[in-house]
Amino acid sequence: MIKGVILAGGLGSRLYPLTKVTNKHLLPVYDRPMIFYPLEKLVKAGIKDIMVITGGTSSGDFLRLLENGKDFGLEHLTYAYQEGEKGIAHALALAEHFAAGEKIVVILGDNILEKGISEEVEIFRKQEKGARILLKEVNNPERFGVAEMKEDRIVKIIEKPLTPPSKYAVIGVYMYDSQVFDFIRTLKPSSRGELEITDVNNRYIEKGEMTYGILDGWWTDAGTFDSLLRANILVSKQKASK
Ligand code: DAU
Repeated sequence: MIKGVILAGGLGSRLYPLTKVTNKHLLPVYDRPMIFYPLEKLVKAGIKDIMVITGGTSSGDFLRLLENGKDFGLEHLTYAYQEGEKGIAHALALAEHFAAGEKIVVILGDNILEKGISEEVEIFRKQEKGARILLKEVNNPERFGVAEMKEDRIVKIIEKPLTPPSKYAVIGVYMYDSQVFDFIRTLKPSSRGELEITDVNNRYIEKGEMTYGILDGWWTDAGTFDSLLRANILVSKQKASK
């Protein structure tokens, strides 16, 4: 059974002073705390066994807010604590015991998506091995991991390239088989001192075991003042149109 992992560690330093006394993922996105959005995406995709990995400021508040997940129809939630801000792949390593050899769907706690991910998860469920990522065409790819394409194949992902090789950003929804934890063990910190998820994805690409989908609907992160504002506006418009 596929399990879910939400990564909500890090210090949210780009949102300081909003994150001085609370955690980025507890900040409001329109009418709900940020962490509700990725959690809801996993649950709606039929994933019931979920780990929340947090860290930094106010990490105990996740427990107060989410409890055992009953507001989301869950019977239990699993929690882990990441020390420091050593990168997305470093946080994910904490899920190895929880994953227990099963496939996982990982979602970054600050990624907000218009539509569901059920179809993509279904495709990955049937994928024999390897990983699957989602791409979205954006106007500011230099802020993200960017896919270098050869025809319709991803040849490499480059993290925050000065000269983006395409407009396809890699969004923060990653699907992995259990090899992911072996790949993380071989990583070295990047120039920003983090274990990069992009390096993990490149291992899968080198092995020829990476597939991808193109995301339907809008997507944004919420880790900067501008993207947090954008997330609020997009969600409020979506609510108004319903
Ligand atoms: O939003 C998608 C982008 O996310 C990808 O396109 C990039 O390839 C990927 O590296 C990442 O980019 P950012 O630099 O914007 O990620 P950020 O440091 O803002 O972290 C995103 C989330 O990951 C954050 O909300 C919580 C989690 N995280 C991050 C770090 C650095 C952790 O759980 N622990 C960490 O140490």
